[in-house]
Amino acid sequence: MKTVFSTGELRQIINDWRRKGERIAFVPTMGNLHDGHISLLERASTVADRTVVSIFVNPIQFGQGEDYAKYPSTLESDQEKLVRCGLDVLFAPNLEELYPAGTAEDTRVSVPGLSTILCGKFRPGHFSGVATVVTKLFFSVLPDYALFGEKDLQQLMVIRRMVDDLCIPIKILGHPIVREADGLAMSSRNSYLNEQQKTIAPLIYQTLETARLEVAQETANFRQIENNAVEVLRRAGFRPEYFSIRRSADLVEANERDQEPRLSILVGAWLGNARLIDNIQVNLDD
Ligand code: PAJ
Repeated sequence: MKTVFSTGELRQIINDWRRKGERIAFVPTMGNLHDGHISLLERASTVADRTVVSIFVNPIQFGQGEDYAKYPSTLESDQEKLVRCGLDVLFAPNLEELYPAGTAEDTRVSVPGLSTILCGKFRPGHFSGVATVVTKLFFSVLPDYALFGEKDLQQLMVIRRMVDDLCIPIKILGHPIVREADGLAMSSRNSYLNEQQKTIAPLIYQTLETARLEVAQETANFRQIENNAVEVLRRAGFRPEYFSIRRSADLVEANERDQEPRLSILVGAWLGNARLIDNIQVNLDD
C-alpha cells in the first residue's frame, strides 16, 4: 500500500490505472479506523479494481467548541490496518493541500433543506463543511464509486443529493451500520466514553429497536414514541438532541396518518463528552 500526501502524485497513480481501464472505488474517512471503516473498504474491493481511502480531519465540518483539536489521529496504526486489508492507496493530504486559500473565505458547497434538520440543526455549517470537502476529495480522486456508511444516514443523503444536483458522475453506495456486540454503533468518538458510560451507551440502540416495534403497532403515536425515547435516554444520563421518526425518502418528519411504509428513526445524543448518533430502518410493509 502506498501513502500519498499530494494531489499531484495521487492523480498520476490514478491516471495509470485509468489507462489500463481499471475501475476505482473511494472511501473518504477522518481516520482512527475501526471495523465500520474496514467493512466499507472490503465492500469497495468487491465493486472496483482499485480502492483509494482518504484520511483527512476536515476542520470546516467542526463547529466552534467541537472536538476538531482533539479528534483522534492514529495514522500509523491506521496504515497497518490498511496494509492488512490489501488497500491500494491511502491519500492523506495536509490542510494546505485541500484548502490552498485557507478556510476563512473559501468556496463552499451547500445542500439546502437536508443540511438544516436533525444533526444540522445542532451543528450549523456541518453539512456544508462535509459537502465541500467531499467535493474536493471527489475531484482529487475522480472515482467511479464512493462508499459511505449508513451510520451517518443524513450525511449519506446530503452526498447523494449533492452528486445529483451537481451532475457529478460518481455512483454513491451506502453501506450498513457495523455495531459492537452490545449493539453500539462503531464510531471514532466512542473512545471519548469512560468505562461506566460504555455500559450505558448501548441503550441508544435499544431505544431505536423499541421504537421500531412501537411504530409498527396499529395505535402508534409517533410523537409519543419519540418523547418516551427521549425520556428513557435522559433518565439514563444522556443529553438527547433529537429522536425522530422520519420518512426514509427525504427525512421529512413522518406522521402515523401518512401511511408511508419506509421510515428511518434517527437519534443524536450526548453521553459525557461523546456525541453519539445512530439510526434504524423500518419497513411497515414487512
Ligand atoms: P468518518 O466519521 O471517519 O467516517 C468515514 C465513513 O465511515 C463514513 O461514510 C461513515 O458513515 C462510515 N462509518 C463510520 N462508522 C461506521 C459504522 N459503525 N458502520 C458503517 N459505516 C461507518 O464521515 C466522515 O468520516 C466524514 O464526515 C467524511 C465523509 C470523511 C468527510 O470529512
